[in-house]
Amino acid sequence: MEPHEAAEDYSQPVLAGNAASDYERYLNTDELLALQKTADEWVHRDELLFQVTHQTSELWLKLAWTDADEAARLIEEGDLRAALRLLRRSVLCIRFVIGQLEMLEHMSPWEYQEIRKVLGHGSGFDSPGWNELRRVFPRLGQAFHAARREAGLSLAEVYTQGREHEHLYQLAEALVELDEQAQFWRLRHYQVVARVIGDKVVGTQGTPVELLGKLVSKTAFPELWEVRNELTALSKATS
Ligand code: HEM
Repeated sequence: MEPHEAAEDYSQPVLAGNAASDYERYLNTDELLALQKTADEWVHRDELLFQVTHQTSELWLKLAWTDADEAARLIEEGDLRAALRLLRRSVLCIRFVIGQLEMLEHMSPWEYQEIRKVLGHGSGFDSPGWNELRRVFPRLGQAFHAARREAGLSLAEVYTQGREHEHLYQLAEALVELDEQAQFWRLRHYQVVARVIGDKVVGTQGTPVELLGKLVSKTAFPELWEVRNELTALSKATS
């Protein structure tokens, strides 16, 4: 056998780094798994559940906003199909983050009070992932409306002529889906908060939980919801 034909030794890492395997080197698992408090630092063992739920939510939200941001750029460039592909992924990220909220309901509300004492003024209002998504939503909306105007369509016409403007129609619905899932997250988060700390208390940053309940009806693309009313009225007027 020629030297260059020697069987590759798969047991040895080839990537740069100090970790034992390429799996650990590529994924930075040493660093990742050191990002949670250790057992001797816990005030309660459910701190691991609490940190893992929040940290993984931040990771999915990072993918959600990064893809949504790129989708906005693609719409601005006129590539609606490529934007749709990314928006579907972004929606799925938010679904995962909604699903993960259930894990927090496996904490005892009384024992969670111990964890709460070590959170300082930490609050979800400072979640980088949600703040980035809030930044990206207006850009997405503006890009969609610019594409719709360029096609010479009112918002109602995107729906009444949806079959002739398939990609614009699908884009409008992808934005509604994104908005709906973000709204669903707020509702689910409110339910979890009410179940864990109650609905008549204030949060670690002084926000009354009742206010979270009111935020549930907030939408990022109100005009896309409003147009449904217009379509119902239009249908009634023309029948
Ligand atoms: C036991 C679990 C949780 C509790 C008790 C809780 C409690 C709260 C409270 C009370 C607020 C109002 C602000 C304040 O702190 O004064 C808030 C806001 C917020 N929380 Fe949580 N939270 C929990 C889990 C999560 C998780 C897993 C996330 C995921 C990233 C999250 C993200 C947020 C966000 C983004 C806000 C701002 C409100 C909004 O944008 O609608 N929270 N949370």
